[in-house]
Amino acid sequence: MFDKNVYKSRREALMKSQLKGIAVFPANDEASCNYPDNTYHYRQDSNFAYFFGLDHPNLVGVIDFDKGEEVLFGEEVTIDTIIWCGPQPSLEEQAESVGVKTTKDINRFGEFVRDAVEKGRTVHILPPYRGDMKICLARWFDINICDLEHFVSQALIEEVVKLREVKSDVEIAEMEIAAQTAYRMHTTAMKMCKPGVVEQEISGTIEGIAIAAGGMVSFPNIVSVNGQTLHNHGHKNILREGRMLVVDAGAETENYYASDFTRTTPVGGKFNQRQKEIYEIVLKANMEVAAKTKPGMKYMVMHTLAARTIIEGLNAVGLMKGDIDEAVVAGAHYLFMPHGLGHMLGMDVHDMEGLGEDNVGYDNAIHRSSQQGFSCLRCGKTLKPGFVVTDEPGIYFIPALIDKWKAEGKHTDFINYDAVEKYKDFGGIRIEDDLLITADGNRILGPGIPKTVKDVEDFCLGNI
Ligand code: GLY
Ligand code: MN
Ligand code: MN
Repeated sequence: MFDKNVYKSRREALMKSQLKGIAVFPANDEASCNYPDNTYHYRQDSNFAYFFGLDHPNLVGVIDFDKGEEVLFGEEVTIDTIIWCGPQPSLEEQAESVGVKTTKDINRFGEFVRDAVEKGRTVHILPPYRGDMKICLARWFDINICDLEHFVSQALIEEVVKLREVKSDVEIAEMEIAAQTAYRMHTTAMKMCKPGVVEQEISGTIEGIAIAAGGMVSFPNIVSVNGQTLHNHGHKNILREGRMLVVDAGAETENYYASDFTRTTPVGGKFNQRQKEIYEIVLKANMEVAAKTKPGMKYMVMHTLAARTIIEGLNAVGLMKGDIDEAVVAGAHYLFMPHGLGHMLGMDVHDMEGLGEDNVGYDNAIHRSSQQGFSCLRCGKTLKPGFVVTDEPGIYFIPALIDKWKAEGKHTDFINYDAVEKYKDFGGIRIEDDLLITADGNRILGPGIPKTVKDVEDFCLGNI
């Protein structure tokens, strides 16, 4: 946990907004896996953790904008909890550790919230995303689950996004730690990328690195020789010479700050000519975005830059053709990169997307495009110093998508289907870094995982 003043100043900043009424931040409960007492690894709700810091279930934080008060609802420690979980801080001690003065019994929370509603006060909640939390909220408000949406507050969402999107120095220091852990995860995976190894051996090993660092992975690892499947969570393939391994993985710190990097490594450590050609295009897209990204620029512009570089590169190797700018506008790159350039990063790997993708990635100055090749972009808005965003271009050869577009005669002015046919067995390549937007540009978080062809090969072959 950070110093209590971090949480106090975050709540003070929210208190200074124009909001009226009360904001309710429930902590996540334990989540059962295969029977009630066998729970998944506990993960606090990021918004609760941001404002109230505590890493425990069965708590609700309340900010009363009208009275200028903060309250922590919770339960006194019972002897049963001490027997099973060891000595625990009291509710008051917990509240004190994050600078909250008032505590109340969580068993009275329903009464508290219904009283506020009856008095006509505005009660703001953020969109609930877990089934058990929806049931809890519906019980507290004494309403049908479907009516919870009336309490989901667009105004609170916007205020929370304004605060969480700009990372402070302590948050950046945490994200550096997450990036350092990711460095160890990725370089270990690269060393293990040899014929005969099974994907799950690599996945398990790098997950262990994240856990040993004190947190867990920031999302389920993607470790796949079938990189053309974007979020491939099956890990049963044996690595064979001639394939490449896509590893998209990151760690989160004990304070829940994430990293998210991707590297693509040839099995055995040496790219063949065809792999090298496509890899160099993706690398150029990744590096040009990193070279040009700065505050004041729209993330949509970064995406367009990456799309243009990919089209230009694919034209040069004969997989695409025609006018490059027209192909960008038409979204023809979607055949090869059917995802956006990336997303915001923070306490969630897709930061704050629980508040609604468009609420986080777009604003009044830019709305999501409906054009294929751009509509998939999770974030389009203007970058500010303190934002952390990912830069993750890719090129994939997805046989089903190639067949579909070819059958539809789609973008025949821009795509050389005869040449593309020969790449159906290629797989996919993605390269991802985490960029902190600084006062005049950006910097990549972490120590820099090998990514040029030479560095990847030298690293795999033990030359660096
Ligand atoms: N980790 C999934 C992604 O890169 O968005
Ligand atoms: Mn990723
Ligand atoms: Mn990502």
